[in-house]
Amino acid sequence: MKVKKIISMLLAGVMALGLLAGCGSQEETQANEEQQETQIEEDTTNDAEDESQSEPAESSAQNSDGNILIAYFSIPEDIDVSGIDADAGASVVVKDGEAVGNMQFMAEAIQQAVGGELFRIETEEAYPLDHDPLVDQAADEQAENARPALSTKIENLEQYDTIFVGFPNWWGDMPQPMYTFFEEYDFSGKTIIPFNSHGGSRFSNTIQTIADMQPGAAVVEDGLTISRNDVADSSEEVMAWAHEMVSGE
Ligand SMILES: Cc1cc2nc3c(=O)[nH]c(=O)nc-3n(C[C@H](O)[C@H](O)[C@H](O)COP(=O)(O)O)c2cc1C
Repeated sequence: MKVKKIISMLLAGVMALGLLAGCGSQEETQANEEQQETQIEEDTTNDAEDESQSEPAESSAQNSDGNILIAYFSIPEDIDVSGIDADAGASVVVKDGEAVGNMQFMAEAIQQAVGGELFRIETEEAYPLDHDPLVDQAADEQAENARPALSTKIENLEQYDTIFVGFPNWWGDMPQPMYTFFEEYDFSGKTIIPFNSHGGSRFSNTIQTIADMQPGAAVVEDGLTISRNDVADSSEEVMAWAHEMVSGE
């Protein structure tokens, strides 16, 4: 399994480079991501099976729903969604006639399955919703290791034992506001359950980053990652996974 992990990490590195190189053109990027995603998914399917047998999640929470917080970051891009029921392959899902971000869609499915409070992580400065300015700004922020200020705060953190945390993969990493988030709060003694969506990079190394930033928390290693192409059809999968995380069955 170590060899597989190394191969997997190498592929992830190659993929991140590919994404960086291709980001100037959306179609090109998407084609690269899809190709890479197939490769990665083939590789990680076996790995995930191995891990579920030999390395179970560090912790799965036992909670009543009042103890659950579902924190998420989501930037739904401004695309024309008229005349479509569900958009595949972009950053939005059309739900009840309204376009919602992929992570918002997943967060709401988690709440439907296990209850809890939804908490949207928002920044003081709004992000551009057009694709090119958004990817450029995200790249600049990553290069600067920025900590964009957050405008939403968790009330009564002490009441929560279990924090689902959702974010899109941006440039092979968490969006920079997630670094602000994990620096702003101490989740010691709590269980963090990551979930994400992506265009091919899955979680990259973000779960390890979260564990490093929150050494006092139990960070679930097998968080849920879903391709943006599949988010619109993922409700059942997300709900079943969330239920399993909370109930342990
Ligand atoms: C700024 C930016 C950078 C991205 N970088 C990556 C990336 O490196 N790897 C990847 O797989 N997907 C990447 N994506 C795709 C997003 O992870 C994907 O569209 C996600 O579903 C967006 O979720 P949201 O609608 O909730 O914001 C990027 C998207 C944006 C906007």
